[in-house]
Amino acid sequence: MKTKTETKNKRKIETKTKKQETTEKLVKELYEKYPYPSRDFFSKERAKNYVKWVSKIFGKTVDFWKGKQILELGCGTGELAIGLSLSGANVTAIDFSKTSIKKAKQNAKNLGAKVNFLEKNILETNLNKKFDVVIALGSLHHTINAKKGFEIGVNHLKNEGTIIVGLYNKYSRARHRVKRIILRLIAGNNIEKRIEVGEKLFKGNKSKAWLADKYGQVHESYHSINEINQWFKEQKIKFIASNPKYKYPIIDEIKWLIFRKNAFFVMIGKNDAAHSPPN
Ligand SMILES: C[S@@+](CC[C@H](N)C(=O)[O-])C[C@H]1O[C@@H](n2cnc3c(N)ncnc32)[C@H](O)[C@@H]1O
Repeated sequence: MKTKTETKNKRKIETKTKKQETTEKLVKELYEKYPYPSRDFFSKERAKNYVKWVSKIFGKTVDFWKGKQILELGCGTGELAIGLSLSGANVTAIDFSKTSIKKAKQNAKNLGAKVNFLEKNILETNLNKKFDVVIALGSLHHTINAKKGFEIGVNHLKNEGTIIVGLYNKYSRARHRVKRIILRLIAGNNIEKRIEVGEKLFKGNKSKAWLADKYGQVHESYHSINEINQWFKEQKIKFIASNPKYKYPIIDEIKWLIFRKNAFFVMIGKNDAAHSPPN
């Protein structure tokens, strides 16, 4: 027979799961309606510039990607995936928003890129294939379990493969976190109302997709350098580079907040499992 505490705990877990389900549904709904980033002027040059920006973080050039097998998690409307394909990579890119994938496919067609776009939930992905590079920029923090998303990424990584994750920072996104509290108080989970209020109170004059991503978004998680280094350690990923660079975690992250930069940070590591002692 179950004790009262066990029953209470079980109910608690079930409630949480229901809450997570609702959250995931709302996030999906947002990106179905407002695929991100949906750039108006998307060109080969812009796609390649995106690739250059990512490459530079870990001291590579666009040539690095030639012939590589790449997996992108949460590709949105496909700009990076397309840029990587145009740089000679074989790219598989997934997103759970049907409209984003549709737009991504159209974008790829327009620019003559070949990408394997798949409509999938990151947290339920198992492709039975290993990749040279796994990339998740700006997507894991919108899943209900960013760490699990990262681990799924690592499961798809070859030995010596590279993983690139871009996440909202726990410290330097503090200003936006305050705005989100205000939005929640005024508009709750009503996406359209959140966008309207956000545009009025904070920053307007941006694309609808941008406003939706910033203010309509009901779920984002926040992460720190120390936390990601811990994720790396647990998965035997060796740190290679970050953007921005840092010397002292927390102090530097607070500096990013003060100097109003880098609410979003990128960490890059290499799969070192083959050289690590077993746990
Ligand atoms: C802010 S957009 C980033 C898009 C793209 N990576 C970029 O940097 O432009 C976040 C994307 O993650 C996707 N996403 C969020 N949670 C997801 C999940 N659980 N499974 C698959 N895609 C997800 C959303 O649909 C959305 O397209």
